[in-house]
Amino acid sequence: MAVHLVPIQTGDGSYTFYNVTENIYFRSLQGARSEAFYVFVAGARLPERGGDWSVLELGLGPGMNFLVTAQAFLARAEVGTLRYHVVENAPLSPEKLGQLAYLSWFKYPAVYELLQDALSQAVQAVTEPQVPATHFRPIQLRWQIHAQVIELVLYPCAWELASLPKQLTFDAVYHDPFGPAANPECWSEPCFAWERAHLSETGLITTYGASTPMRKAMAQAGLYLASRKGSGNKREMTLAARNPEALSGNTLLSQEKYLK
Ligand SMILES: C[S@@+](CC[C@H](N)C(=O)[O-])C[C@H]1O[C@@H](n2cnc3c(N)ncnc32)[C@H](O)[C@@H]1O
Repeated sequence: MAVHLVPIQTGDGSYTFYNVTENIYFRSLQGARSEAFYVFVAGARLPERGGDWSVLELGLGPGMNFLVTAQAFLARAEVGTLRYHVVENAPLSPEKLGQLAYLSWFKYPAVYELLQDALSQAVQAVTEPQVPATHFRPIQLRWQIHAQVIELVLYPCAWELASLPKQLTFDAVYHDPFGPAANPECWSEPCFAWERAHLSETGLITTYGASTPMRKAMAQAGLYLASRKGSGNKREMTLAARNPEALSGNTLLSQEKYLK
C-alpha cells in the first residue's frame, strides 16, 4: 500500500512525518527531536557512558533517533565508536528526509549522508526479490573523523528476519515501532525476548510505551521493569533490563504484578 507522508513541524521546531493514509505520527507533535533525546538517548543513560556506545533500534523510520544519538555522541569530549544497528521493514526513500530540515539543527552533513546512503540501499534491497525470501543482508556503513567512528548497520527487514549474530549485545535497545494497533507483532513477548537476547548485562531497553499489556509481555520475556516520566505531557514511559540494578534511579515496577 502506498502511504502518503507529509512533513509537519512540532513544538520544538523540529519536523516529523504524518502518515495521512494510516493517521499515524512518527514522533510526538510536542517536539520530535526533544522526544528522541529524552525517551531514547537520555532514557538509556547513554550520556553517562564513556568510551563506545552501542545501540540496537527497532524501527529506523526517518532516522531522527539515529541523528540525535550521533549528535550527542559526537558532542562529547571523548573519542570512541558509536555502533548503531537498526531494523526497518519499510525503509523510506532518502529523498523524503529532505522534507524534515534535519540540517537546520544536525551539525554533521556527512553523517546525514550516511543515513541517506543506508536508506537508498535499503529501498533497493526491499524492492528486489530475495533468494531465499528470508535472506536479507545487512547494509553496513562507516564514518570516521579522527578517532570518532560511527558504524551504521541497517537490516532491511522485519525484526523477526534480522540476522543479528547471536552473541551481539548492546548498551541500549530503542523500542520504537508504531503503536500496538499498527504494529502488534512488535509489542509481543517474542519481540521483547529477541530484544532481551541482544541486551548487555548493564543495558537498557527504552520505549515511549507504558501500557499494561506491553509491560506484561516484557515481564514474560524475563525483563525487569521501571517507569519514568514520559516525554512532554505523557505521564509515563517504560525502561526494561536484564538486571534490576541497571534500572536504579527510576521507579521499579513489580515483575510479579505483570506476571499474574
Ligand atoms: C515510529 S517509526 C520510527 C521512528 C524512528 N525511530 C525515528 O526516530 O525517526 C516506526 C518504524 O518502525 C517500522 N516497523 C514497524 N514494524 C516493524 C517490524 N516488524 N520490523 C522492523 N521495522 C518495523 C516502521 O516501518 C516505522 O518506520
